[in-house]
Amino acid sequence: MSKFYITTPIYYTNGDPHIGSAYPTIACDVLARYHRLKGDDVWFLTGADEHGAKMAETAEKAGKSPQEFCDETAAKYMECWDELNISNNDFIRTTSQRHKVAVRKLLQQLKDAGAIYEGQYEGFYCQGCESFVTEKDLVDGKCPDHGVEPKLISEKNYFFNLKKYLPEVKKMIDADEIKILPINKKKEVLGLFKQEINDFSVSRQNLKWGIPLPWDESQVTYVWVEALMNYVTALGYGTDDEKKLEQFWPADVHVVGKEIIKFHCIFWPAMLLAAGLPMPKAIYAHGLFTIDGVKMGKSRGNVIDPFNLIKEFGTDATRYILLSQFPFGQDGDIKASQFVIQYNSDLANGVGNFSSRVTAMAEKYFTGVVPARDTELKNEVEAIWVEYEKALEGFQVDGAIEAIKKLQSLGDGYVEKNKPWELAKTDEARLKEVIYNLLELLRHLGVALWPVMPETAEKILAALGQNNFTSQNFSLLKVWGLLEPESKVSKNEALFPRIQ
Ligand code: ME8
Ligand code: MG
Repeated sequence: MSKFYITTPIYYTNGDPHIGSAYPTIACDVLARYHRLKGDDVWFLTGADEHGAKMAETAEKAGKSPQEFCDETAAKYMECWDELNISNNDFIRTTSQRHKVAVRKLLQQLKDAGAIYEGQYEGFYCQGCESFVTEKDLVDGKCPDHGVEPKLISEKNYFFNLKKYLPEVKKMIDADEIKILPINKKKEVLGLFKQEINDFSVSRQNLKWGIPLPWDESQVTYVWVEALMNYVTALGYGTDDEKKLEQFWPADVHVVGKEIIKFHCIFWPAMLLAAGLPMPKAIYAHGLFTIDGVKMGKSRGNVIDPFNLIKEFGTDATRYILLSQFPFGQDGDIKASQFVIQYNSDLANGVGNFSSRVTAMAEKYFTGVVPARDTELKNEVEAIWVEYEKALEGFQVDGAIEAIKKLQSLGDGYVEKNKPWELAKTDEARLKEVIYNLLELLRHLGVALWPVMPETAEKILAALGQNNFTSQNFSLLKVWGLLEPESKVSKNEALFPRIQ
C-alpha cells in the first residue's frame, strides 16, 4: 500500500474563509479522496496561519486580543470545511502548543547546523504579503496584490543563509526531484534563480505576536518561517512520537496558490536541506480567482462568501462550481452571476437529470431489475478512466471534471441514439442491452463523481444497490460490468432541483 500526504496552504486568520481559500481546500479534498479510493494510506492536512504583523493589527482594530481573534476565525475555517465535506485528517493551528514547541526545535536545529546568522535588516515590508519586498516587486510604489505601499523597516534580525543552499535547491528542481507543477511554474521558479535571491530573515524584532526564538527571546519567528514548518510540525516533528513523520514525510504534494511559490519552492526546500529532512515530492501552484481583474483576498475584502454559496446551491454543487471555473493552474475572473446558469446546465439538466432518467427507465421497463450484461460502452468508458486517472495523478483536478462531463455526455448521447421509449414498443432484447449499458455507465459516473461530489455519488450508487462501494478497491470499481444482472435498482429522486 502506498502512502499519500497532501497539504493545503494554511490560511491567514486575519479574515473569514472566502472562495479563494475554499478552492485549494476542495481541490485537495478531491485528490485525497481519489487516493483513498485507490487504497492509498492518505494523510490530508490543512490549517490556520495565525501569527504575524497583519494578524496583530487586524485583531487590534477589532478591539480583540490576537488569540481571541484567531480562535474565532479558525473556528470559522473549521466550520466551513465541515460544511464543504472536507475530509482532512488534521487541522494545524500555528498558535497551538504542539506547533510552537516543534517550531522552536526545528529553528534550533537550523541554528546548530550553522544556517542562521545575526544581521541588520533594512528594507521594505508588505504586511499583506507578510513579506520583505524590493522595488522590482512593486507597481507605482505599491504591492500589486494588496494595493498598499510597503513599510520601511530597519531592525536587528536573524537571517537564514539561503545563498549557501540555492545551487542544491536549483539542481533538485531542474531534475524534478522536487517537481514543480504546472510546468510553466517550474520555468518561472527556475527563472527566479537568475535574479539575485537574498538571504531571508527568520525573525522580527518589533513584533510581539509570534513564537519567540529559542536562543533570543527578544525576537519572534518570522511568520513565513514557522508557517512553512507546519507541514512537519503537524506530523509530530520533534516530539517523542515521530511515527507519523516517518510514515508520511515527505509530502507527496503541497498545493499552494501561485503567489507563494517562492516560499514553497525555494525557501522551504532550503530549510529542509539545512535540517537534513527529505524534500517534498511535488509542489502544485494553482491559479487565483480575481474579481474585475483584481486578486480576491482577505486584505482587500473583495471576496465571495462560501457559506452563501452552500446555502444557495448545497455542498456538492458548491464544490463542483468552484472547481470547474478554470483549469486548476490558471487564473480567472470570477463571474458569480454565471453560477446559477452553470448549476442548471451541468448539474440539474446534466448529472441530476441523467441519473433520474436512467433509473426511472429501469424501473418503468424492468421493475428495477438489472438486465443481462452488455459491453457496448466498455471501451469508451475505459478510455475515459485513463484520462481521469492521468489528470488526477498529475493533480489536474479540472481534468477529472472534464472526464466526468465526457461520461455524462456519452450517456446522454447513447439515450438519444437508442431511444429506449421506442425500443420499449419494438425490441425488448435490444432495450435490455441499452438499459444495462446505461445503468452500468451511471455506476461509473457515480464512482468518478465521488471525489468531487461525495454525497451525490453516494446517492447515485445507493440507488444502484452499491452502498459500500468506497470500501471496494478502485481498480475493481472501474472495471466494466460490476453491476450484477438480476440485482435491484431504484429511482433516483432529483439530485439537483432546478434553480430559477
Ligand atoms: O498566504 N484565488 O495565506 P492566505 C484562489 N498563510 N486561491 C486563493 C485566493 C484567490 N483569490 N486567495 C487565497 C497565506 N487563495 C499563508 C500561507 S502556507 C505555509 C502559508 C488561496 O490566507 C491560495 O492557495 O493569504 C493561497 O496561497 C492560499 O489561499 C493562502 O492564502
Ligand atoms: Mg494571501
